[in-house]
Amino acid sequence: MDRFMDPQPTPEDLGLEKGLRPQRLQEYIGQEGVKENLKVSIEAALGRGEPLDHVLLYGPPGLGKTSMAWVISREMGVGIRITSGPVLERTGDLAAILTSLGNGDILFIDEIHRLNPSIEEMLYPAMEEFKLDLIVGQGPGAKTLRLDVPRFTLIGATTRLGLLTSPLRNRFGVVLRLDFYDSEELEKIVLRSAAILGVNIDSLGAKEIAKRSRGTPRIANRLLKRARDYAQARADGVISRRVAIEALALMEIDEAGFDSLDRKLLLTIIEKFSGGPVGIDTLAASLGEERGTLEDVYEPYLIQEGFIKRTPRGRVATERAYLHFGLKVPSPFSQKGLPLEK
Ligand SMILES: Nc1ncnc2c1ncn2[C@@H]1O[C@H](COP(=O)(O)OP(=O)(O)O)[C@@H](O)[C@H]1O
Ligand SMILES: [Mg+2]
Repeated sequence: MDRFMDPQPTPEDLGLEKGLRPQRLQEYIGQEGVKENLKVSIEAALGRGEPLDHVLLYGPPGLGKTSMAWVISREMGVGIRITSGPVLERTGDLAAILTSLGNGDILFIDEIHRLNPSIEEMLYPAMEEFKLDLIVGQGPGAKTLRLDVPRFTLIGATTRLGLLTSPLRNRFGVVLRLDFYDSEELEKIVLRSAAILGVNIDSLGAKEIAKRSRGTPRIANRLLKRARDYAQARADGVISRRVAIEALALMEIDEAGFDSLDRKLLLTIIEKFSGGPVGIDTLAASLGEERGTLEDVYEPYLIQEGFIKRTPRGRVATERAYLHFGLKVPSPFSQKGLPLEK
């Protein structure tokens, strides 16, 4: 998918993001509830001199899950190993990582919903009893060997809590959901990133970028970078409100922070399916996108902002969606913004 507002990281983001990641809880903007929960767990673990409970972080891409894992490792003063569900192909990969950890270290598994089942099974005793069951030999002579592994903390991250098996989910002591950021928080993030990158921006410029970042720090940082380039090439180098608006217009990002694909999704529901309800698979086929991409990447923000609704019969465009395009709202709209039965 080639999409400017895609919250998944591009290789370019990864270079940019390293320097922008908050290092400590205090620097981590927003997610107050999540931070409060973690503070309690971290203080308790440090007080007891024990490793932190296993932590599962979930929520849409770009909201700060990986950053939080790094923050936790710093707050705990322990090492961290980073891997991901799709990267761990064989049980031997996991065994090698687990046995190389130091006591109390963190193992971060990104996209943990994509673990191969045999690896997931190997994780259960590791998480619960810090034991690793290795199968040695083949066929009828095969034996299981039980090894100790260091007392580690597993931090799992996922965009799809619903795809985690319940035995895995249940082994996490702390399960925390990251939410979209509001524009004040994003403004702080933009100003912080600008300071780190040495970008000239005023507060109205930062507000404009924040407002259009789809609630997502990764997108805010990306827009900031593009606005900086625009300010250097087409203005006096300062990101003012006007410069931000012009730069965003060039990227075809509208006032709601929607890009052309968001608009296409909304207009497809409105125009092709008379506002819905339309089933997610039909919608995906009609947009030429995968269902999972719609569910993970497009919909969460559109739903949270009240532009579409999920109903048992499919997706529905709300009154707000019609108004966004300056379209006439179809008349039989109930109070909730759902079209009445036709
Ligand atoms: N709370 C935050 N405060 C400041 N910057 C943040 C915050 N959350 C995320 N970011 C920025 O957004 C980028 C993407 O965050 P990341 O942790 O990689 O998201 P995720 O793992 O959820 O996809 C980070 O590099 C960081 O610069
Ligand atoms: Mg991540």
